[in-house]
Amino acid sequence: MMRIGMLTSGGDCQALNAAMRGVVKCIAHSGVEVEFYGFKNGYKGLIYGDFRMLTSKDFSGILTKGGTILGSSRTPFKTIREPDENGLDKVEAMKQNYYKLQLDCLVVLGGNGSQKTANLLSEEGLNVVSLPKTIDNDLWGTDMTFGFQSAVDVATGVIDNIHTTADSHGRVFIIEVMGHKVGWLTLNAGLAGGADVILIPEIPYDIGKICDAIKARDERGSRFTIIAVAEGAISKKDAKLSKKEYKEKMANYKYPSVSYEIAEAIQKNIGHEVRVTVPGHMQRGGAPDPYDRVFASRLGAEAGQLILNKEYGYMVAYKNREIVKVPLSEIAGKLKYVSPDASIIKEAKMLGVCFGD
Ligand code: F6P
Repeated sequence: MMRIGMLTSGGDCQALNAAMRGVVKCIAHSGVEVEFYGFKNGYKGLIYGDFRMLTSKDFSGILTKGGTILGSSRTPFKTIREPDENGLDKVEAMKQNYYKLQLDCLVVLGGNGSQKTANLLSEEGLNVVSLPKTIDNDLWGTDMTFGFQSAVDVATGVIDNIHTTADSHGRVFIIEVMGHKVGWLTLNAGLAGGADVILIPEIPYDIGKICDAIKARDERGSRFTIIAVAEGAISKKDAKLSKKEYKEKMANYKYPSVSYEIAEAIQKNIGHEVRVTVPGHMQRGGAPDPYDRVFASRLGAEAGQLILNKEYGYMVAYKNREIVKVPLSEIAGKLKYVSPDASIIKEAKMLGVCFGD
């Protein structure tokens, strides 16, 4: 009898359920006798022994369901070695719960921080296989994470809707897109939605260049300008600040987010009426799109196969159109950024998109 634990950790995203279903279906289909244990709310469930046995009923009808049937939470890697408020050693507690249940493997569906903890548990001797989830697509070692394409769809839908109202009113609109410290989501949704200006953290912006792009559109007779701004976008000026200086600036920051700072600067510099739309967590919500359903199912099946082969300590990844396994030790703690020299950036510039640089 095989015993497998599973958890979903960090910010949720579309296709978490599809990926878990993929793992379960693959293992069940192999004919191996297996029990699945679902830890509730991410690593918290593993730390505090909060789990339930999962049956085939749990996995029926979830391919298309958003969110996660297990619940999720953030358990920062930074403090994972620190005891909790009652003095509990969290890493030791996770190990003990794993051993108590006599698990053969722990399956972790997570983003950056969660992969670091997965690697730590693997180094501590647990059998771990992980899957790359996040709308940010910022995981090192994989060309794509599941959840990303669905979030691109949502963010693109927002830009599409804003386009029509921006056109009617002749306004400048900023749409702030999630993505944490990287610009993948904004870049892709921005291009898909035909944004005129795309601002991502990897290419610090100059407000003057953004205003020039708006004025150029005015001169060409365009009634509106669409600006897709990554939540992590940063000005050239701020990018030059030391960590300490930037922290000080942010401590006294009067705007809800960078988009509002940009909006005010545009209004001040060229007098345009600017509106800001922040779709926020909508981008992580709802059903996975067909791409993610297929992608997460494939990743899940390959993760199941790794477990059947007793190959542990890997994240299932997507590289050059192939599903591969990457050692957890190779990916932990690394972020995958958009390269300012990437051909997609060059092509976007050829199309006339302004990146504010
Ligand atoms: O990592 C996914 C993500 O949605 C980021 O894009 C965003 O910065 C962050 O999570 C939001 O986190 P929370 O759900 O904790 O507000």
